[in-house]
Amino acid sequence: MTRVGVIGVGTVGRAVVQILEENKSIITARSGDEISVKSGVVRDLSKVSDLSIAVSQDPYDIVDDPEIDIVVELMGGVELPLAVVKKALQNGKAVVTANKALLAYHRYELQEIAGDIPFEFEASVAGGIPIINALRDGLSANHILSIMGIMNGTCNFMLTKMMNEGTPFAEVLAEAQALGYAEADPTFDIGGFDAAHKLLILASIAYGIDAKPEEILIEGIEGITPADIAFAKEFGYTIKLLGIAKRDDAEVELRVHAALVKEDAMIAKIDGVMNGISVVGDRVGETLYYGPGAGGNATASAVVANIIDIVRSGKRSPMLGFNHPLEEGLRLKNSE
Ligand code: NDP
Ligand code: HSE
Repeated sequence: MTRVGVIGVGTVGRAVVQILEENKSIITARSGDEISVKSGVVRDLSKVSDLSIAVSQDPYDIVDDPEIDIVVELMGGVELPLAVVKKALQNGKAVVTANKALLAYHRYELQEIAGDIPFEFEASVAGGIPIINALRDGLSANHILSIMGIMNGTCNFMLTKMMNEGTPFAEVLAEAQALGYAEADPTFDIGGFDAAHKLLILASIAYGIDAKPEEILIEGIEGITPADIAFAKEFGYTIKLLGIAKRDDAEVELRVHAALVKEDAMIAKIDGVMNGISVVGDRVGETLYYGPGAGGNATASAVVANIIDIVRSGKRSPMLGFNHPLEEGLRLKNSE
């Protein structure tokens, strides 16, 4: 039995608890072990009274619990998560986080503390899209020439509604917050900082660049006016917030800003909370990654994938992905 502690049972944490419970049979088959959530942490206990797990208000109840194998950090912020994740790793526990703000500032330091202990963060970039897995594993034979795309679901959701329906900025931001897409402080989304945090994480994997957000160009979408939208439409463009990494000989340029994109370009058609990222490798050419960039279930899908991977990798004979039977009664459809 592998025991998990979830620090932060909010939009994403709650979905992690639910997926581990509701998809238990396939998760057990794929990981090779039973995985259960032993406990969670929140500030306001009344918000989680419907859950059947033990819940406290102190992150160290999980970090210092000798029975917990994997600590999942989903509370957001930087300073407290930094202390908590450090202590968890020092206690020898594997850590999974979706916290891009934490990683934007402390990814190298935490990786060093982790050493051989698993420290995973697939959900930190582009929600449910396995972009970190693709960049770190699938494209590892390539020099990465560029990474470019939509990396913030809140901004894309807002821009889509502002462009297509003329919804006012404040109204559509409130909608994104109600849907659980926005950061606790939405300035991170609309100011472009969240996209920058993600770009820095990708740039570290692709290029080994150890930059902080303050070192790159970051512009958000707060300045986009109804007149900008009208002009963009009149000339056949849409507006997207893009994260861009471009390699040019010995230099990598990193920037986040809104851009006019021709309406018939592939990226212009990525609407709502969806993210879309193009990665160009020197051998593979262009590859594209598309999917939900925010939201409880989509993000939790990536968090749970990391948990499964950690459990599977700890086995002496890792399962290779061909499971039989995976689900009781699931069989081939007879197409005749
Ligand atoms: P929420 O605000 O919905 O949930 C945060 C949870 O952490 C809540 O349960 C909150 O408790 C708890 N918490 C916060 N601070 C403390 C503290 N000091 N002590 C104890 N508990 C605390 O956030 P999300 O689930 O949306 O996001 C969680 C993380 O995942 C963030 O790092 C975010 O950037 C990242 N992320 C979010 C995505 C999304 O689509 N929402 C997508 C990708 C990453 P309480 O509610 O009682 O205050
Ligand atoms: N606030 C973030 C977004 C959550 O809207 O993209 C996913 O990282």
